[in-house]
Amino acid sequence: MTLAEKLGQLTMAAAGHAVTGPVIAGDSVEAIKAGIIGNLLNLMGADHVHAMQRLAVEQSRLHIPVLFALDVTHGYRTLFPVSLAEASLFDPEAWALTAREAAKEACADGIAMTFAPMIDVSRDPRWGRSVEGPGEDPWVGARMAEAKVRGTQGAELASADSLAAVAKHYCAYGPVTAGREYASVDISERTLREVHLPPFEAAVRAGAASIMPAFTDLAGIPMTAHAALLDGWLRARLGFEGVLVSDYNAIGELIRHGIAADAAEAAALALKAGVDIDMMASCYRNGLPVALNRGLVTLADIDRSVRRVLALKERLGLFDDPYRRGSAPETDAAIARRRQLARDVAARSIVMLTNRADALPLEGSARTLALVGPLADASAEMRGPWWAAAGPEGQVTALEGLRAALPRSEIRYAPGVAIEAQDTAGIPAAVELCDNADAVVLCLGEAAAMSGEAASRAHLGLPGQQRLLAEAVLERARARSKPAIAVLFSGRPLIVPWLIERADAVLAAWFLGSEAGNAIAEVITGRVSPSGRTAMSWPQAVGQIPLFYGERPSGRPANPVDHYTSKYLDAPNEPQFPFGHGLTYGRFVLSDLTVTPETLQEGGALEARVAVSNEGRKAAEETVFLFVHDKLARVARPVLELKGVAKVRLQPGERGSVRFELPASELRFLGMDLQPVFEPGEVEILVGPCADRKQLLSTTIRLSA
Ligand code: NOJ
Repeated sequence: MTLAEKLGQLTMAAAGHAVTGPVIAGDSVEAIKAGIIGNLLNLMGADHVHAMQRLAVEQSRLHIPVLFALDVTHGYRTLFPVSLAEASLFDPEAWALTAREAAKEACADGIAMTFAPMIDVSRDPRWGRSVEGPGEDPWVGARMAEAKVRGTQGAELASADSLAAVAKHYCAYGPVTAGREYASVDISERTLREVHLPPFEAAVRAGAASIMPAFTDLAGIPMTAHAALLDGWLRARLGFEGVLVSDYNAIGELIRHGIAADAAEAAALALKAGVDIDMMASCYRNGLPVALNRGLVTLADIDRSVRRVLALKERLGLFDDPYRRGSAPETDAAIARRRQLARDVAARSIVMLTNRADALPLEGSARTLALVGPLADASAEMRGPWWAAAGPEGQVTALEGLRAALPRSEIRYAPGVAIEAQDTAGIPAAVELCDNADAVVLCLGEAAAMSGEAASRAHLGLPGQQRLLAEAVLERARARSKPAIAVLFSGRPLIVPWLIERADAVLAAWFLGSEAGNAIAEVITGRVSPSGRTAMSWPQAVGQIPLFYGERPSGRPANPVDHYTSKYLDAPNEPQFPFGHGLTYGRFVLSDLTVTPETLQEGGALEARVAVSNEGRKAAEETVFLFVHDKLARVARPVLELKGVAKVRLQPGERGSVRFELPASELRFLGMDLQPVFEPGEVEILVGPCADRKQLLSTTIRLSA
């Protein structure tokens, strides 16, 4: 291979599909033929992908196939709920299944790699990218990473329906300063290892083909050039042999980070740190030849990365058959099954935050329904901030879903206001709709583009004039003694205490994808009992952020009658809703926690059982969390740490149980030297419906050497 051909394999350019056909941004198809671009992102459609592939395979000197990549984050054409919504399922099998289906659909269009899963732990809802990931908990992040990698890559990476997974964004992208996108990150080595690395470790162990470093720096070292964490942690320590692909233009941005003087230096820093593919900066193509001349890199450095890229293409089966993906259209039955899965998963992703006096489900008695709000009939918004090949039309809206579910009811609809605009002229008409309605459903929230990349927010309330609309509607509903239900659409927990206080029931519907409206209707009408549990704590005030359940204890824990304790003068410490919160149409009572053995040795395992009974009037699924708290350790442990989740579905009046098994090794922690230790002493085992200590059953066991 010539140097230019080698650097081509290390280059990823963006393609798009213009009216006249596929175009490569800032480049030409000549580059593919010349072999100086080996990887493309953002090209969609099997015809276009294959046409481009033919240029590489038939017309380039070495006939090396192109790797086609795209952000297939929560579905390709059929959209599943956004990741933070799906996290509410706490169900690795479901996570794997949606990833499998997304992979099949994308592969049928010729794609071979997805920039997913996004497994960045986020404890800051100001950060818009919270929507793309698993929420605040590292254990959940790790389980989601494994499930998504397994689902995306399938049993065999070379299969026509397998995608290479790119776990991103490595790492500690979530704690950007003040929740501001792309800002600097500065956290302790311990938090890095305990909170932000575990999901990536899980992704590597699950066999992720690729990893993408984050845009951000960690204490002054941009991740794109972080040799210790890329080459050191990932490759040397975890044995990761896959491809590191930079984020979009991230190698070029090393210059603005202030650690490289020019493209040659930037390219050398990234390559030396272990980054194999340069996405969109052209620093490798243009800068590495200069860096070679200056002695900043060697040919061996370049060859190492080229081998890794070629090995990935080989594993994907591209050399055997570059047209394997995208050669067989999917059957209608396969597409219909996928759509059904999207509906089931969407319904299970909904988190019922409140339900006063059993306002929900509405059941058959609601003959006339007033549906109000700018998100009631907003197909494009249901997609969330990534949508791959899903067009703006075609997502089922709440209006459509409710009309389909309640064909004999009259459903009157008024948006009232737009999502963000200031115009309030539509409010009176919307309020009037409530007059003759049996119930009111308010569909409120963010636009999809208000979360995702480059979508940090400093105010986490409802945008525009939605509060004005909601207050007017709530007042009218109350005056008429009609139930008012709020459905919240958002890519993050919102801060809406006034709404929580005044609506009869509130559902967090996040962005649920293609089947959003049907899923919402199923929950509202009671055909499905909500079972989602929030994977992020909901704050009561922005000043509480970062807010998460797994804090360390304070030496001066909050005490309302003691001034000098850890609290706010003007807000409570408690979240509006804790991690794991979510109501169902059942009423579950947990009792009889038993944990054995009472004394546990390092090689052993503990078993916890708890009885669960449904004392409500409806069948439902309960989610039970197992937390631990190491009460006395040389390094203070978090007040709660999640170690397991179990589910049980019970009929009204039925009694069942859930069981957890936990290897003692899970009770190790990083000691003072950051090495894992199993420290003898007492450990509290806590089991219950969410991370609110008051709702947990607990018992204490002993660890012994
Ligand atoms: C930038 C984003 O940070 C990353 O998540 C994404 O995969 C790339 N752009 C490619 O679209």
